[in-house]
Amino acid sequence: MNDIINLQERARKVLEGNVFSSETFFYTCPSLDQYTHQWLWDSCFHAIIWSYFNPENAKKELLSLIKKQFDNGMLPHMCYWKSAVGLIPRIGDFLFKNWPEKDRSRITQPPLIAQAVEKVYAQTQDQAFLERMIIPLQKYYDWLHTERNEKVSGDGLVSIIHPWESGMDLLPIWDHIHKIKRLFTIRTALWLNKIIKKYNQVNWEIAKIRELDLFLVKDVSFNAIYLLNLQVMANLCGLLDQKEKKEIYLQRAEEGKKTLLEKCWDEETGFFHSIHALSDQKLPEITISGLFPLILDLDTQKLDRLVKAHLLNEKEFWLPYPVPSVAKSSPYFTPKGGTLLWRGPTWFSPNWYIVKGLQSNGYEDIAQEIITKMIEMVHISGFREQYDPFTAKGYGARNFGWSTLLIDLL
Ligand code: GLC
Repeated sequence: MNDIINLQERARKVLEGNVFSSETFFYTCPSLDQYTHQWLWDSCFHAIIWSYFNPENAKKELLSLIKKQFDNGMLPHMCYWKSAVGLIPRIGDFLFKNWPEKDRSRITQPPLIAQAVEKVYAQTQDQAFLERMIIPLQKYYDWLHTERNEKVSGDGLVSIIHPWESGMDLLPIWDHIHKIKRLFTIRTALWLNKIIKKYNQVNWEIAKIRELDLFLVKDVSFNAIYLLNLQVMANLCGLLDQKEKKEIYLQRAEEGKKTLLEKCWDEETGFFHSIHALSDQKLPEITISGLFPLILDLDTQKLDRLVKAHLLNEKEFWLPYPVPSVAKSSPYFTPKGGTLLWRGPTWFSPNWYIVKGLQSNGYEDIAQEIITKMIEMVHISGFREQYDPFTAKGYGARNFGWSTLLIDLL
């Protein structure tokens, strides 16, 4: 018990220490070390944890996000608020300077804002907040449906157009798109930047981006989060008595889940693979992205295979400090942190999803084992951005915001 209170206090301090605010905005940056801007999916996770400590902060965090919403509904993956710009200049800052708008990016990130709003509502029962958020949320999920599903391949799954949109920037699935043998930091940074410059040239029109086909992926984790959030949207619309809207989101969720099973599941590997958006060709790597369908209510036999043959497999994901971002069996597996992110270490946001998925599908014991390991990781290294899956040594940013997601699992 004392241990839990202690962890909660430490987590609260991390969030409090990372706040930036003024009269017009309030947000919690991922880490003062390295990431001083506002990131979309980080902020949704932060709001979930704020909802325990200070629900007003959770609301302000989400309201700041929607202030930067585009007219067409898109929510940018990064918001640059005045106080954060140039606060701690970094070599990598050049990567964030090519967007058409100076105060936000033109790509998005995993769409879990509906979950964040649902959590805040569950903790506060604040009807006015829900009513304030519902239209921006509908605009966002409708934008994903139109721009990233209908205008790309129309099969119910959404496509991402840049590796950063996945939130798991450099999972080795991307190497397969570009037939890259070995990623190097500088070359990769230039390549990530080049994609943005090319999109600037075609004015970010999705039809033209589709023609360019520089990076079009129906990513498993992004889609699993999208589909789960469509169900959440249906719940939120239900709470507001919007029956027709509720039906629309449920239908979209059903169609997407059907396609995910048809196109991403591979009977031979017993795994879900991300696919190229136009050819539907599977990307072969075994990465944490393929475990995300655990969060959906899908065919239980397939989920069981996912758990037994992959998650619990000591040659793949079941390492001393699970769950590594890349399977140990992959030639790309690099357990130590470095400048290339998501190539092996354990991160807490996927862990949070996997634990929730295991709990909702009847694997409570395995979920509990992962939670116990997460507590150990924090005891050994603090709230770090990434952890070594063999030793729990911390890598990357310190006092990292979303690592406090552990609190939601205790
Ligand atoms: C890294 C992560 C990304 C996250 C950002 C801020 O770029 O890959 O998912 O949003 O840092 O924490």
